Amino acid sequence: MRLSKEQLEQFDREGYLFFPSLFTPQETATLNAAVPELYSRREAYNVRERGSDAVRTNFGAHMYSEPFARLGRHPRMVEPVEDLFGEQLYMHQFKINGKMAFEGDVWQWHQDYGTWMNDDLMPTERAMNVAIFLDDVNEFNGPLMFIPGSHKKGVIDAKHDLTTTSYPLWTVDNDLIAQLVARAGGKNGGIVSPKGPAGSMILFHSCLVHASTSNLSPWNRVSVYLSLCAVSNHIRRHKRPEYIAHRDFSPIVCLPDDCLLKDYPVSVPWKHGLPASALQTTDVPFADAKQAA
Ligand code: SIN
Ligand code: MN
Repeated sequence: MRLSKEQLEQFDREGYLFFPSLFTPQETATLNAAVPELYSRREAYNVRERGSDAVRTNFGAHMYSEPFARLGRHPRMVEPVEDLFGEQLYMHQFKINGKMAFEGDVWQWHQDYGTWMNDDLMPTERAMNVAIFLDDVNEFNGPLMFIPGSHKKGVIDAKHDLTTTSYPLWTVDNDLIAQLVARAGGKNGGIVSPKGPAGSMILFHSCLVHASTSNLSPWNRVSVYLSLCAVSNHIRRHKRPEYIAHRDFSPIVCLPDDCLLKDYPVSVPWKHGLPASALQTTDVPFADAKQAA
């Protein structure tokens, strides 16, 4: 899928693009069906909400689940980002966020690039999130909130918040958020939250400031996030485990557009468990991909 001139201009201005119902219910059905079993696994890659068994985020499913491995090579998700960067991409991070009914906790205001820079030493912001809804998203089940245009600020000061939720995040303080929202139009569009049916897709800039509230509704809000990074912009440190920040910088090769409807063969190297190396971490940076090997 290729972006039009109007879409490229809108992305530049607002920092995100929303594609309601881009995937059909038939296409999301196999993905949805695989989630409960993946969430039931007692593995490091399932991060649960604080004080609850509900999964907050599942990491790296494209490495051990065939339906999600196909999604990670879907041209509708990957090609628009290739167009925006004019370069091939590798998978930096792959998440299935639960935001489960009644239990899904907040995501504080943050930029994803803040974490990728501070933790993973990703050199620049040439990485992008592409999200697909696996459940309908409405105003009650904790939709993503964006501050339009906030990506133009570049990297914003952030603090490492290790306590608010079960997952550490580099977060932006409230005063700065208030300023950014005012600058983006205050009550007239200073915060937006794209909502729509399962199968909708959002593409957003890695410096776009975003958050989501807790889910007090009886409806799950499962969404999958592909964080796609330009190959030349690969991370320079393995401070986080490999299931969170991937270490294979080879370019993604897309499957045909009907890859969620047909069982195209895909490699799932972690199908029989995480290798010990995926848990190993180091604070020592490396200079390039050769040294990472
Ligand atoms: C994220 O910011 O990475 C996740 C936010 C959400 O799923 O609401
Ligand atoms: Mn984020």
